[in-house]
Amino acid sequence: MAKLGVNIDHVATLRQARGTVYPSVLEAALICERAGAAGITVHLREDRRHIQDADVYVLKQGLSIPLNLEMAVAEEIVGIALDLRPAEVCLVPEKRQELTTEGGLDAAGTVHTLGPVVEQLRDAGIIVSLFVDPEEPQLDAALQVGAPVIELHTGTFCDAQGAAAEAELARLIRASEYAQEHGLQVNAGHGIHMGNITDIMRIPHLDTLNIGHSIIARAVFVGLEAAVTEMREAIEGVGKS
Ligand code: PXP
Repeated sequence: MAKLGVNIDHVATLRQARGTVYPSVLEAALICERAGAAGITVHLREDRRHIQDADVYVLKQGLSIPLNLEMAVAEEIVGIALDLRPAEVCLVPEKRQELTTEGGLDAAGTVHTLGPVVEQLRDAGIIVSLFVDPEEPQLDAALQVGAPVIELHTGTFCDAQGAAAEAELARLIRASEYAQEHGLQVNAGHGIHMGNITDIMRIPHLDTLNIGHSIIARAVFVGLEAAVTEMREAIEGVGKS
């Protein structure tokens, strides 16, 4: 059964929009935990547009489910991760002007810089995941640098329509098969919502789906606990059939 990891970045987006102390990211995380989330993800961006340094420490301290820190391969942030020691780190590409993460990490093209960072994080006892596009060279690079987990970038599929969507889903399915055959844990995320979760669940071998924006958006109408429960039940329901 695939698990749901909830990304709560946009709880911090609301707070930062006004510079207030509310809404509390810890309170949000604890509600997600109560609703059956298997983990909490936050992205400590270099520009600190939503999650702040203090948030990651408060979450690490207050959570009983694993904290997954999404981050760029940037010296300053790697230093914070090594100090924080979250259960997991997911390495992502980061561009200053983007609205959200665009595309996967070019692991294949950056093996030499990625390798030592993965090693440092692993030596600190952190499970390292690479956020990659569903392409074999990227999965081979994950194996090469010793990352035990990959998170397949589902954003392209989620944005596509018709034949293009089918083709992208086929790529995700093939990549997941390949990753599993080579001993990688397969997570997936980006752009997933209640309208596409059934298709996403056609990807085999999924361990964890990391979902943020759609859950926080839905929470505006039904509350966070209900929004998380809805998505978790959708994942579990599809998983059963
Ligand atoms: N996984 C990764 C690596 C991401 O960068 C993001 C967005 O921060 C997500 C999952 C969650 O994406 P969304 O907010 O679209 O559900």
